[in-house]
Amino acid sequence: MMIKKELNFKYKYSRAEEQMSETIELPEFEVAEENTAVEFKNFNFYYGTKQVLFDISMRIPKNSITAVIGPSGCGKSTLLRSINRMNDTISGARADGSVVVSGTDIYSDKIDLIELRTKVGMIFQRPTAFPMSIFDNVAYGPRIHKMPLTKDELTDLVHWALDRVGLLNELGDNLDKSGTELSGGQQQRLCIARAIAVFPEIILFDEPTSNLDPISANRVEKLIVELSRDYTVVIVTHSLSQAARIADQTAFFYNGHLIEYDWSANIFERPKHPQTEAYINGRFG
Ligand SMILES: Nc1ncnc2c1ncn2[C@@H]1O[C@H](COP(=O)(O)OP(=O)(O)OP(=O)(O)O)[C@@H](O)[C@H]1O
Ligand SMILES: [Mg+2]
Repeated sequence: MMIKKELNFKYKYSRAEEQMSETIELPEFEVAEENTAVEFKNFNFYYGTKQVLFDISMRIPKNSITAVIGPSGCGKSTLLRSINRMNDTISGARADGSVVVSGTDIYSDKIDLIELRTKVGMIFQRPTAFPMSIFDNVAYGPRIHKMPLTKDELTDLVHWALDRVGLLNELGDNLDKSGTELSGGQQQRLCIARAIAVFPEIILFDEPTSNLDPISANRVEKLIVELSRDYTVVIVTHSLSQAARIADQTAFFYNGHLIEYDWSANIFERPKHPQTEAYINGRFG
């Protein structure tokens, strides 16, 4: 049922084009509880004795793009990985406070990590195509999660996911070759197809375009904008122009502290905090 519904979804135009058409007066930036996909509450994070995130409280709204920016080492990746507990594998890593994902504190003991990572997918800076066929790359999640699909339904799902990222047309029926043979940009889109094949609610992107050539990067960026209609997107980026172009709201971090979080237009055009202003004007970072 769910697959059918998703399969029928068609996109008329990208939101970037929509935004260009008019300038609107921005309301105060606040995220209502019912519109919250992820909520950090007094969240702290430590690697051993070193604290790298300090008392973070913020709400990330559903079905939109939230950018996380700040100088190297300020804790952006740590924050992102806290949303699906990818930091857990690092020895000595420890968190306190809470992160609530669709109503559940994911740092409570009862959480099923496999289920959490199905709900919260992640895309990395380096495309991580698996050394298996393109088809198997996308079918990987549904198979691991033992999704109750017939062979035809699995094929439909794989085709749907590849179509959604623009690879089905590009590759035609040639889904048997290895995913690792694709170009970097195609591999990144393959990773996105693999992520959406298990129907996540949230997709985390850690500098997804910084290893790509400008054309592939642009392609992935457009795709992220399209995906944000149906998924909650959180993206870490070093490219301020990218954040300004695609993010609805932007959070600026410095030394593990959340300094300013607002509509991207406010962050990039009218920052309230002098540190934000200095960073976006390239005076440090
Ligand atoms: N596995 C780890 N063990 C110990 N310290 C770590 C580990 N990973 C990150 N850190 C430290 O935590 C701090 C935050 O790192 P993080 O990778 O979250 O920053 P970042 O903002 O993503 O940086 P960059 O822009 O360079 O990717 C840094 O001081 C870093 O050195
Ligand atoms: Mg990082």
